[in-house]
Amino acid sequence: MTSTNDIRRSFLDYFAGQGHKEVASAPLVPFSDPTLMFVNAGMVPFKNSFTGLETPPAPRATSAQKCVRAGGKHNDLDNVGYTARHHTFFEMLGNFSFGDYFKEQAIHHAWTLLTKEWGLDPERLLVTVYHTDDEAFELWKKLTGFADEKIIRIPTKDNFWAMGSDGPCGPCSEIFYDHGDHIWGGPPGSPEEDGDRFVEIWNLVFMQFTQEADEIVGDLPKPSIDTGMGIERVAAVMQGVHDNYDTDTFKALIAASEGLTGVKAEGDRTASHRVIADHLRSTSFLLADGVLPSNEGRGYVLRRIMRRAMRHAHLLGADKPLMHRLVPELVSEMGAAYPELVRGQALIQEVLEREETQFRRTLDKGLRLLDEETGDLGEGGTLPGETAFKLYDTYGFPYDLTEDALRSRGIGVDREGFDAAMAQQKAAARAAWKGSGEAASDEVWFDIAEREGSTEFTGYSSTTGEAAVVAIVKDGAEVDRAAAGDQVIVLTNQTPFYGESGGQTGDAGRIWTPDGLEFAVETTNKPLGRLHAHVGKVIKGEVKVGDAVHLQIDADRRDRIRANHSATHLVHAALRNALGEHVTQKGSLVADDRFRFDFSHPKPLSAEEIADIEAEVNAEIRANEQVSTRLMTPDDAVAAGALALFGEKYGDEVRVLSMGRKPDGSRNFSVELCGGTHVEATGDIGLFHIVSESAVSSGVRRIEALTGDAARRWLLARDEAVKAIASALKTAPDDAAARVTALVEERKRLEKELAEAKRALALGGGGAGPAQAADEDIGGVTFSGQTIEGLDPKELRPLLDEAKSRIGSGIAAICAVNDGKAAFAVAVTDDLIGRFSAVDLVRKGVEALGGKGGGGRPDMAQGGGPDGSQADAAIAAVREALSAG
Ligand code: ALA
Repeated sequence: MTSTNDIRRSFLDYFAGQGHKEVASAPLVPFSDPTLMFVNAGMVPFKNSFTGLETPPAPRATSAQKCVRAGGKHNDLDNVGYTARHHTFFEMLGNFSFGDYFKEQAIHHAWTLLTKEWGLDPERLLVTVYHTDDEAFELWKKLTGFADEKIIRIPTKDNFWAMGSDGPCGPCSEIFYDHGDHIWGGPPGSPEEDGDRFVEIWNLVFMQFTQEADEIVGDLPKPSIDTGMGIERVAAVMQGVHDNYDTDTFKALIAASEGLTGVKAEGDRTASHRVIADHLRSTSFLLADGVLPSNEGRGYVLRRIMRRAMRHAHLLGADKPLMHRLVPELVSEMGAAYPELVRGQALIQEVLEREETQFRRTLDKGLRLLDEETGDLGEGGTLPGETAFKLYDTYGFPYDLTEDALRSRGIGVDREGFDAAMAQQKAAARAAWKGSGEAASDEVWFDIAEREGSTEFTGYSSTTGEAAVVAIVKDGAEVDRAAAGDQVIVLTNQTPFYGESGGQTGDAGRIWTPDGLEFAVETTNKPLGRLHAHVGKVIKGEVKVGDAVHLQIDADRRDRIRANHSATHLVHAALRNALGEHVTQKGSLVADDRFRFDFSHPKPLSAEEIADIEAEVNAEIRANEQVSTRLMTPDDAVAAGALALFGEKYGDEVRVLSMGRKPDGSRNFSVELCGGTHVEATGDIGLFHIVSESAVSSGVRRIEALTGDAARRWLLARDEAVKAIASALKTAPDDAAARVTALVEERKRLEKELAEAKRALALGGGGAGPAQAADEDIGGVTFSGQTIEGLDPKELRPLLDEAKSRIGSGIAAICAVNDGKAAFAVAVTDDLIGRFSAVDLVRKGVEALGGKGGGGRPDMAQGGGPDGSQADAAIAAVREALSAG
């Protein structure tokens, strides 16, 4: 028997021998075609080589390409398990000529390989050509000597191949194998063509045109060749079986599934084993190529496939998750040809086990509901669409899974009812949103989200990508296009741009096309939490809905954001270690130039606590541990110790971020639920520095901090400042603080000495300076009035007390002037208290100083005024009052 692995090798070797370059299979996620969900044919990676946009790897190439047809234009999911040759995953063997050879040689190679190299019986073969392709007809006739009825002209699109609605296309010629008259079916073009007797094994496409939106829009630069042979079908032929599932690879997978479930692949169990074997291949290969189950885009298709297989595992009575236990068999069958399976094995098993564990929790309940609802339905009955919707909404049963579950009982599902229930739920969500008082302009986001679904975010693993423009919004309304100068919002089917959420700022960058579009993305928002809206300006060219565009985020900026985001997780953990478990995150802002982190804590942090936290975070950074991301259910994540934000709503599945190790190496330093983007290892954060700690509200504190180069620059600026201070002090930076302390002390001492000197002067103790007031006699009352510049107002009272004891009986007034302002005080000796009040007198003086009031006791009162230049006038006012009596 020729094994599938041998067939692959022999095909590639044959074409390599004919001057073709052997090219490894491209990943299943098309990197050069955003309009396509998965690579669905061998020619996809070469699309741009056909259209002339890229230089081909060689004039001739050959490959064994991984393909998935489950979603989009070519979708085989529903049939898988029930037919002999539908698959979600298959391998396509192909030979390609990029403007090198054309029809004649392509036909010649195909015939030679099949009949000479592989020795297939020409009697068993027949071919089709496009009805107008006389050239192909003649070439086949000459080469094979076939009777005309074995070269069948087909007038339909079956013989006109297109990659998708956009891309290269052309008429084709298909080679069929006749499995024999014991199987029902007729040749292509006959009424019985849908039977299984005649099986297409190889399609030769004569690539000539390019199409857009299903319309031919031009010729390819040069006529080219694209061929595709499904390896599973040819393996069936070469291994003398009719059914693809009886070939070596599938037999091995089905045997493994029989072994683990203890159920033979017989009777109505056959389909389940087939579904499991097929879906094991597609899910494992998709996971190996980086697709993860989710609720949008490719991730959702993957989840649908997985759940379908898991339902069949359940049907076979598997009492625990099955799929991940089959992966080793798959790796042993296909790992040599596809090393990515070996590399990804651990991840594939982990994700499959998690998904199956999770799905089994609701599967039982969902199936019970399904049984109840269909109890009365016989063959030919229809399940109400609403029930199918409930299964989808509550139990995670994709529509096709429900359909599949009822298929064996001959029960259908009311698709229209399902769609109506879905539409109703969407309308209710929209109404609830409107009711919440959000701006009416949000209507536009609902329209887009309903039409296009959620934007697929590809930015966890890449900073660039390609995408199709699905909507453009200008001034709150959708438009078809935008031109240079327009400020608009561009939405694409997928994007590496992170939309602002979870405290993390949106990405900036550019959207461009080789033919001249330049759109500057200023930021990215996330309307409705599921669309990524690129906000910015068309700098050059034009952008239209439907355009295929390149996206490129500002990667340096994103690196800074990632460092800041990861640092918030480390700070959170360090705060809890230092202050206690009561610390929880109350909010955060992660920008590219700084971050802040709000947390619950009743009092300010001490300088020591801040220093400890900073030291601990920096130690984690230096430890340079890997940052790992795992997808889990929210419950599992919390059970695993992840910190969840209280009150936050999480979906079916969350990302769990783990960083660093505890000192004993046992546990992760930080485990949190987080949808943000993060560094790969803590060392990427570089440096961490807290610049401030403050209060936000009662019981909530805020740390503002910097990382990486921003932290370094901040500390550098501090260092420069210290150097400048040291240089002004004429000392070394290390001695600057001691020097400043000494200077402050000295200043205090000098101030004190100065005050004492002034006081001594006022009392007449000094030589120079203001003269002591001459005591005056005003109507028999002794008056001592004096203005003293620079006198500390605190000295007024002691000075007045001294004046009183000197004059024995009388009135004393002093005005102290400092910085243009005056403090004024008046004292009355006890014997005169009945005649004069210090309070009245001081008020007169205060008035002269432009002030108001003044108060105290009858023997001593004080006040002040803004106009120190009127100090003498204040003294004069008292004098006047005394003379008035
Ligand atoms: N691209 C062609 C096909 O997929 C060969 O059938």
